[in-house]
Amino acid sequence: MPASPDQFRSALRRWGSGVSVVTTDRLGGIQGITVSSFCSLSLEPPLVLICINKRTGSHRLIEEHRAFGVNILRDDQKTISDRAAGLTGPQGNWLDDLPHRRFVTGAPVLSDCLAWLDCAVEAAHDGGDHTIFVGRVEAAGQADGGPLLYFDGAYRRLGRAIVGRSRRA
Ligand SMILES: Cc1cc2nc3c(=O)[nH]c(=O)nc-3n(C[C@H](O)[C@H](O)[C@H](O)COP(=O)(O)O)c2cc1C
Repeated sequence: MPASPDQFRSALRRWGSGVSVVTTDRLGGIQGITVSSFCSLSLEPPLVLICINKRTGSHRLIEEHRAFGVNILRDDQKTISDRAAGLTGPQGNWLDDLPHRRFVTGAPVLSDCLAWLDCAVEAAHDGGDHTIFVGRVEAAGQADGGPLLYFDGAYRRLGRAIVGRSRRA
């Protein structure tokens, strides 16, 4: 028997992650959706994946435009995450007021964030009530700062590094 929704949610609250906002074109402006299910997939070619709920407006727009931006948020950008998570109403997902740029794919990316990726949809795989979109990274950039983190239902910022750990080669 599969895990119950409550068991599933409780276990997943123990998974800490960064927070990204995935951006797509919406009538020449920007639609944003807060996404923690973002993952690096391949270095050569450069691929990432995101998992998007099939019932969201962003899902329809990503399928339509075949492109999306991934914007990794800084620890002072909780307000943008709340907006793109729909917590301020559906209009919060419209990020047209935020400075943005378009690079290779035509998808908008936020000018002010910790890092951004401009992605063309390479593949889409069924994943239950979500779709796994694989994005080919056509352009990318980063800035200084600390990441916005999400753990146990709350936003957080980085603590101290664990002494003795070394960087991955
Ligand atoms: C921290 C956090 C992480 C989230 N991660 C995801 C995710 O990975 N995939 C997803 O489909 N929704 C995720 N959501 C929920 C969406 O952001 C939310 O449903 C969004 O408002 C949908 O907007 P739309 O229907 O206007 O596109 C997350 C929400 C929060 C607060």
